[in-house]
Amino acid sequence: MKIISVVGARPNFMKIAPFCKALSKHPEVQHVLVHTGQHYDVRMSDSFFVDLGIPEPDVHLNIGSGSHAEQVGKTMIEFEKVVKAEKPDWIVVVGDVNATCACSIVAKKEHVKLAHIEAGLRSGDIDMPEEVNRLVTDRLADLLLTPDRIANANLKDEGVADERIAFVGNIMIDTLEAQRAKAEKRSIAEIVKRDLLLADTPVPALPDNEFVVMTMHRPSNVDQIETLKPLIDFLVNEVSRDLPLLWPIHPRARKQLEMFGLWDRVAANVILLNPLGYHDMLRLNMGARLMLTDSGGLQEECCVLGTPCLTLRWNTERPVTLKEHGGASQLVGNDVARIRAAYHNVLNSECKPQRPELWDGHAAERIVQAILIYGK
Ligand code: UD1
Repeated sequence: MKIISVVGARPNFMKIAPFCKALSKHPEVQHVLVHTGQHYDVRMSDSFFVDLGIPEPDVHLNIGSGSHAEQVGKTMIEFEKVVKAEKPDWIVVVGDVNATCACSIVAKKEHVKLAHIEAGLRSGDIDMPEEVNRLVTDRLADLLLTPDRIANANLKDEGVADERIAFVGNIMIDTLEAQRAKAEKRSIAEIVKRDLLLADTPVPALPDNEFVVMTMHRPSNVDQIETLKPLIDFLVNEVSRDLPLLWPIHPRARKQLEMFGLWDRVAANVILLNPLGYHDMLRLNMGARLMLTDSGGLQEECCVLGTPCLTLRWNTERPVTLKEHGGASQLVGNDVARIRAAYHNVLNSECKPQRPELWDGHAAERIVQAILIYGK
């Protein structure tokens, strides 16, 4: 059997690492790893391959940045050539980025069986590019590998037959569990020293539980000044006055802050860091009093670590991480009055680790088994 698996952007790498490892225990399977190159910076891509022990991609499509149509279109053109040459039995895609969607379409047009890892997540918000990618991918996939039971219910509501759904758990948590001990040993002071974006930023002592970590990069938060400016005012005038605020900043957010003339105020009040490697980010999360984020993956990691998390979104495709389902995260959108109220409520709340069903570090083995037995 031959399997092509696909990665493209940062959140894919922690999902593919355990899959590669689990597949390597099956010498009867030939595995071809394709990197579309949507993320290409060393800090956004290469460092994850090294840190997580992901094998060198067999094929690199070098797609790079561009509009959504450019990224999806270029990926389809290049990936089609790979599929025609390799003639795989299966194509495996992960997550919800442009590579996921583009390669799913190619898979089915080339009549290759398609498996989707992290199937069934729905935010209900079609304005999110990731939601479009999820809907297209799940409509096309032969085998839908779900991380939680809410995802199963979403797929059933959409009419997906039971035989196509396999509840396997959350593969991101395989990576978290495999890397936790290594991350724990890291020193916050050293991480900050190594990855400080601006050398003249004053850095106080940062004992565990005495700092806040944030990440924010979604178009819905950073693309309009009317939304971004009040958020920045709140972060700079309120949060960073209470506790040191660490922000490993995504290239998209940085570009927008510079364009809107907000960069200098942020730089003067926030401890800005480069995009961090996997272990460094995990260590910051372990030590944070509070996480403020619009990332999907961090919501999941906060759930398992117990870090109180304010999710800067109005919806989430990962409701299992919310407080009402036992998790650590709370949806606060991007309305500052609402964020402020929740912030004061949770600033002194306890760390409560939770483990949704099958978030046990063994999802990748179940995924490989599901693919091997599908259709037998
Ligand atoms: C993508 C994913 C999103 C994910 C995010 C995590 C889609 C639709 N979105 O969004 O789900 O949460 O990645 O990072 O696929 N850039 C660099 N260096 C890089 C990569 C990008 O500077 O290595 C710049 C690009 O020039 C671009 C911006 O960052 O202007 C955004 O990159 P892009 O890949 O278009 O999407 P993300 O916003 O990162």
